[in-house]
Amino acid sequence: MDVISVIRTKRDKGELSPEQIDWVIDAYTRGAVADEQMSALAMAILLNGMNRDEIARWTAAMIASGERMDFSSLSRPTADKHSTGGVGDKITLPLAPLVAACGAAVPQLSGRGLGHTGGTLDKLESIPGWRALLSNEEMLHVLDTTGAVICAAGDGLAPADKKLYALRDVTGTVEAIPLIASSIMSKKIAEGTGSLVLDVKVGTGAFMKNIEDARELASTMVRLGTDSGVKTVALLTDMSTPLGLTAGNALEVRESVEVLAGGGPADVVELTIALAREMLDAAGIKDADPAKALADGSAMDVWRRMIAAQGGDPDANLPVAREQHVVTAPSSGVLTRLDAYDIGIAAWRLGAGRARKEDPVQAGAGVELHARPGDTVTAGQPLLTLHTDTPEKFDYALDSLENTWDIAPTGTAFTPSPIVLD
Ligand code: URA
Repeated sequence: MDVISVIRTKRDKGELSPEQIDWVIDAYTRGAVADEQMSALAMAILLNGMNRDEIARWTAAMIASGERMDFSSLSRPTADKHSTGGVGDKITLPLAPLVAACGAAVPQLSGRGLGHTGGTLDKLESIPGWRALLSNEEMLHVLDTTGAVICAAGDGLAPADKKLYALRDVTGTVEAIPLIASSIMSKKIAEGTGSLVLDVKVGTGAFMKNIEDARELASTMVRLGTDSGVKTVALLTDMSTPLGLTAGNALEVRESVEVLAGGGPADVVELTIALAREMLDAAGIKDADPAKALADGSAMDVWRRMIAAQGGDPDANLPVAREQHVVTAPSSGVLTRLDAYDIGIAAWRLGAGRARKEDPVQAGAGVELHARPGDTVTAGQPLLTLHTDTPEKFDYALDSLENTWDIAPTGTAFTPSPIVLD
């Protein structure tokens, strides 16, 4: 088998055979297929798609590239959640300890920033001392003793996805349903969770810009999960506006801790509780009340133990960027749109994300929102604060904010989009 014939098959809109798929995933994992060859194939898949059989085989080959985990020794049922990625999507941070506080075990294998979207691991690494990389034994130990663990997939778990995910991030090949579905589901199936709730984002700040594509992605993933014996459900949720009031690593950790302390922005709280209910239901846990577990501090207790168990100091001050720049409202009226994609790009350009896969991220960089759609604003009031350690990036970030909001005349009626669309 040679890689050029595999690339040509997909470039010419053909169907990849099971043998071609197994070979190319294995050869890429071993380093026998180069990054530039895999990025050509990823681009051909993005442009020409894959059918159901190809997606199922590609996912199976990614799972087979590594080991599978086994949580059968745990006394609690396992429930996991995965988001397809958004702007300000910090939900995993309060959700994992919340669901653990309600009785499930939450093995949350998470990723790094991808394109304009933030990554859970990059966010948590802004907590001094916190470690994303755990051995399988450490992961099981944290899960068993605290009820939740958020960590990187170990080197042995779906290693093909680990390489391909980093490559797609820097080659414009993220937004492909077959690649997103197989990337997420290979990790989740190999991880061995009993149940899985998928948060499929829809809107400008998501990889799926319209509800039809999001529904196709959701049903592709639900099918892959169900066929592998994982109880899988999906919610379609809005990502036209950033979630909460922050996009950026330490900024989002701070906001998540506010939610765990019983406060925080209403949309973040609403989505956290909605996803917690789905996870508990999928895990077969009845009679738990996630709203109560947020209010009575039990979710916060799990958070503190989980962070400490991974070397982090839950009481440490979080990093703050060296420089800030305030963007003000150009006119008075009702804010009717605040574009999630533009905010995500601005946060990324300020240093919250990566331009090359080996780049570090800045813990303090990002964008803080001072108003959300539906709020009345006055000309000159702060609308956004940009944070970075590298102020020469302000102009670059501001370039992405030229058409980011609409302000309608005062008194204009505004109906917010629901968070959970379906
Ligand atoms: N999350 C993943 O794990 N993979 C993708 O491709 C997109 C989001």
